[in-house]
Amino acid sequence: MDEIDVKPRVARLGELRAEAMPGVVRRAVTEGVGQPRDRRASPIYRFLRTTVPEPIRRPLGAFLTAWRVRNDPSRIFQNTVILPRMAQLGGTVLLVGCRRYTAHEPALLARHGLVCWTLDPDPSVVRWGVAGRHVVGKIEDAATAFPPATFDAILLSGVFGFGVDDVIAQEAAIHACSAVLKPNGLLVLGWNSDRVAADPTALAAIVRHFEPSRDATLAGRIAFTRCTHVFDFHTRKASHANGHGDVAAAG
Ligand SMILES: C[S@@+](CC[C@H](N)C(=O)[O-])C[C@H]1O[C@@H](n2cnc3c(N)ncnc32)[C@H](O)[C@@H]1O
Repeated sequence: MDEIDVKPRVARLGELRAEAMPGVVRRAVTEGVGQPRDRRASPIYRFLRTTVPEPIRRPLGAFLTAWRVRNDPSRIFQNTVILPRMAQLGGTVLLVGCRRYTAHEPALLARHGLVCWTLDPDPSVVRWGVAGRHVVGKIEDAATAFPPATFDAILLSGVFGFGVDDVIAQEAAIHACSAVLKPNGLLVLGWNSDRVAADPTALAAIVRHFEPSRDATLAGRIAFTRCTHVFDFHTRKASHANGHGDVAAAG
């Protein structure tokens, strides 16, 4: 069995099953959806803001965020189940949203022969993207950056509620994903139930352009008992008109 080197955790392909991981549940998520939390109201945030000077607060905030993200159950799931399975499936993939804690992802997938692209509208995060294969831009505009039916998979996680916030932008983002995904291409949509106004699987663009994934590992909905993150797995319908013409034959 192929061994995948995933930092900070190491997983062996096929050993990890969603249900076997602590805190991972397959279920519908309704609780908390549409009730965004004001993080600035948290006592820790208020304490740091009022007592720690700005030049210290910024790097400290970045360090604490990176620590929290690395230890988040959804991140561990992404590193140990989603990425290894994407590596197994192969092809050309788009990773949306780059941060220090995502910098290992393209390298991991590239080691398994995948062609990786990254995209983020923030010019300051180019260094965490793939050199020579990074687009500074919004996912909503992906269809202007890439030809139709370019990708076998798109990982769009932690972006809804972190920039792609209203339903109009989310519809545009999913529509753009459908345009640049190959027929039957995989869309991994990760979102936080306390950061979106409504369950994204009800978006018109999802209903129109996607169907539930039938992949053995990446299918259905994964939620977590200790965090608000949710993963939904869809595949692009094999044939449909998407505003860029019907690209069913292009894949
Ligand atoms: C919380 S980080 C998530 C990063 C990463 N995708 C992950 O796995 O956690 C959100 C990222 O989304 C990016 N972002 C914000 N608006 C975006 C948009 N319209 N299109 C693509 N990325 C966007 C931000 O610049 C930021 O890097």
